[in-house]
Amino acid sequence: MAALPLCGRADELAVMALSWENVVADGSGPQVVVLTGEGGSGKSRLVAEAAAALRPAPAVVLAGRARAHSPAPYDWIASALSGRDARSAAVPGDALAWLTQRPDAPARRFVPDALLRVASDLVRSLVGAGPGVLVIEDLHDLDPASLALVDELAAQPLPALILVTSRSSDEAAFPELAGRVLARLSGTPRSTRLHLAPLTTEDVGAALAAAFGGPVPPGTPAAAHHRTGGNAFWIAELISAARSAGPGAVATGPLPKHIASLVTDRLAPERPETVDVATAAALLGDRLGTELLTHVCGPGAEHEIRRLVHLGLLAIGPDGEPKFRYPLLREAVAGTALGATRAAVSAKASEHELAATTDEAAATHVELARCLLELGRPEEARRHTERAAALLRAGRDEPDPDLTARERQVLGCMASGMSNQQVARSLGISIRTVTVHVSRVLRKTGSASRTEAAVWAVRTGTL
Ligand SMILES: Nc1ncnc2c1ncn2[C@@H]1O[C@H](COP(=O)(O)OP(=O)(O)OP(=O)(O)O)[C@@H](O)[C@H]1O
Ligand SMILES: [Mg+2]
Repeated sequence: MAALPLCGRADELAVMALSWENVVADGSGPQVVVLTGEGGSGKSRLVAEAAAALRPAPAVVLAGRARAHSPAPYDWIASALSGRDARSAAVPGDALAWLTQRPDAPARRFVPDALLRVASDLVRSLVGAGPGVLVIEDLHDLDPASLALVDELAAQPLPALILVTSRSSDEAAFPELAGRVLARLSGTPRSTRLHLAPLTTEDVGAALAAAFGGPVPPGTPAAAHHRTGGNAFWIAELISAARSAGPGAVATGPLPKHIASLVTDRLAPERPETVDVATAAALLGDRLGTELLTHVCGPGAEHEIRRLVHLGLLAIGPDGEPKFRYPLLREAVAGTALGATRAAVSAKASEHELAATTDEAAATHVELARCLLELGRPEEARRHTERAAALLRAGRDEPDPDLTARERQVLGCMASGMSNQQVARSLGISIRTVTVHVSRVLRKTGSASRTEAAVWAVRTGTL
């Protein structure tokens, strides 16, 4: 599939074009633009588009990136020079071999400062009179030597535009160092730091219209935006997967397996406890909250919530409660749950909610009893006190030993919401007999209604 046209980001492109104009007009020092944003927000795409649109075209472009796994010294320079013959640069051949990570590089170690100077000389020699562009992709993943080099280059009188992309330093391979370098790069009068916000609903609408070749059904851009949180990567992936199904599938179609795997892969190296809490959180849907999650998963849930925030799956909302950062992430995690897990989470959650209901119901009876006493109606007050006591007794796991096996069966049917007629059909007995059993169950459990009896049954584990 052809890439989507770039949507939005006009202001960011203008800032980079302006910085380039400054480099071209005054070649005395570098201009720096630092683009930060979450994974998939569109940093790489934007830098690539901006660099390609620069006029006059740069005399030289050195673009390098980090190696996300196993960072090695000077990954950036090795990556920027790969496929380029740099032997003419005025630096010692053995150091060049080392910096470009050639397999035939000498085994001897270099003094770090000396190597940093050589690396910096090498870049300056390649940029020459410029004007040039240095692209430093994924600074957060860079090795310390590359970070030191970037820091050094930004402080040199280099006729170049330095375009840096980075996720938050919290995600960095070397968080403190990356944080310091990002702060220094962004903190000079010649630098601009841009944080890439999610795409807007209008941007998503433009992407959908471009991909599907015309106007899209109203509401689709907003729904697709909500599902993805405006993250460019997920939008591009969903659009690509929905090519034949149409734009509606981007908003509401089932999540394609390969897209779901991209999310769940993040959980693959995590501890089972973390995965369990993520799964339960996903299954709880809108009911997700720390208290309920702790009831379902145990006291370690809060620790795991923090881990899931770090992994970018959850975010803490303004009410202090965790939420999936956007529905697509929740859908992907929920999709991994087996039937037994779904049933267990649902049962635990209902138990918690019923417990809360029971306590509230008991409190209501106590309150009613107090009012009735004040009104001089002691008989009615006593009935409410007894009901409160029955509810609380049930809450303290005190099953009534008098319940017969048949009454327990009837209670089970009542708790699953069956009418007397359905109970009769299910147990193969007459409605009249069911009515007798139901009234005995209500009396023995001290319940005023079928719902209270169901609460009692769940609280005491009778079912
Ligand atoms: N403004 C945009 N309009 C249309 N498509 C976009 C836009 N921004 C990004 N994309 C597409 O979204 C996908 C992800 O973008 P990109 O790789 O630039 O994200 P990133 O921020 O660099 O992510 P990472 O942190 O993982 O490197 C790409 O397929 C890209 O083409
Ligand atoms: Mg990128």
